Amino acid sequence: MRFAIFFLFLDLVLAGNLRMEFAPGEVWPDTEGRPIQAHSAGILKHKGTWYWYGEDKTLGNFNRTGISVYSSKDLYNWKREAVALKKEDVPELFQDKGVCERAKVLYNRRTKKFVMWMHLDARNYAEASAGVAVSDTPTGPFRFVGHRRPVQYDFGYPEIDRTDQRTKGGTFRDMNLFLDDDGRAYVFYASEDNWTMYVVRLNAEFTGPEEPAVLGKTWARILVRQMREAPAPFKHAGRYYLITSGCTGWNPNRAGYAVAGSILGPWEDKGDPSVGPEAGTTFRSQSTFVLAAPGKRKGSFIFLADRWNPKQLADSRYVWLPFYIGKDGRVELKWRDRWDLSVFGKKLK
Ligand code: DGJ
Repeated sequence: MRFAIFFLFLDLVLAGNLRMEFAPGEVWPDTEGRPIQAHSAGILKHKGTWYWYGEDKTLGNFNRTGISVYSSKDLYNWKREAVALKKEDVPELFQDKGVCERAKVLYNRRTKKFVMWMHLDARNYAEASAGVAVSDTPTGPFRFVGHRRPVQYDFGYPEIDRTDQRTKGGTFRDMNLFLDDDGRAYVFYASEDNWTMYVVRLNAEFTGPEEPAVLGKTWARILVRQMREAPAPFKHAGRYYLITSGCTGWNPNRAGYAVAGSILGPWEDKGDPSVGPEAGTTFRSQSTFVLAAPGKRKGSFIFLADRWNPKQLADSRYVWLPFYIGKDGRVELKWRDRWDLSVFGKKLK
């Protein structure tokens, strides 16, 4: 029996179906051999399985399919599970030529529900709203709950504002979710027409902002007037980290990161985490998520990013890179052609 399993494993490896390493920027097939379609990835670990949510761009730009979900036991091999949130499940304005981007999922231990947040937009990008959907299982189907802009705050509204923030609240575009050790959850999002990042604590169900929203108590304006997007938050040694990109559409740009002792700030700018060739474009990619490396020393993380291909969005690639935060608390991202999780054992630095 043991031999049979060994030879099956060997067969899979030799046939090239079983992956045992990451190859940033290369086509990443799922367990059926089809390129993974889950852009702007968000990862959730639940009961020993990782779930990868992302935009299915098989049919091109905009929301033509929905948010897909894949599962894995080892982070290398991913099985396509379903379209977790079908495009038909969001209001019509956000379907087809509308936008449903950067979906992320948290598990709420109290309600036992999986809660998905996403950026919803009309084709003109002027709706800029937060969508929320819930499910009893990680693979869905997710049930759409509603959409809104989480916070109304007079930041000095522009005279001409096609996004109508005075009436509707601050815009909601690139986003991420973060679950803190105390069970409280937060949404980070580019607001004020992308000029300023907001971090907003969620209600007990994770389905909306904690209310009433009080600046400095339940939410904060951070990276003020810095025009950042693609937020990827994480925590290490009691400190909060946030990697972001600049706002240049599908074109890659220089990443930056900030660190804070309290999630509502103050956040201190730490500059560009990338080093080496192509650091200035984050290795031709844009941040989407930071994942704790499984079973590795504290401080071991994986940076997840998208290498967009605007001419053929379905062929956009994934860039996953390892990093280790040492005593100095610095984040340093370096390019690697290929790597596996054993790099963390070799005192990655
Ligand atoms: C940059 C954002 O980070 C992406 O998610 C996407 O919305 C593109 N802009 C569209 O140009």
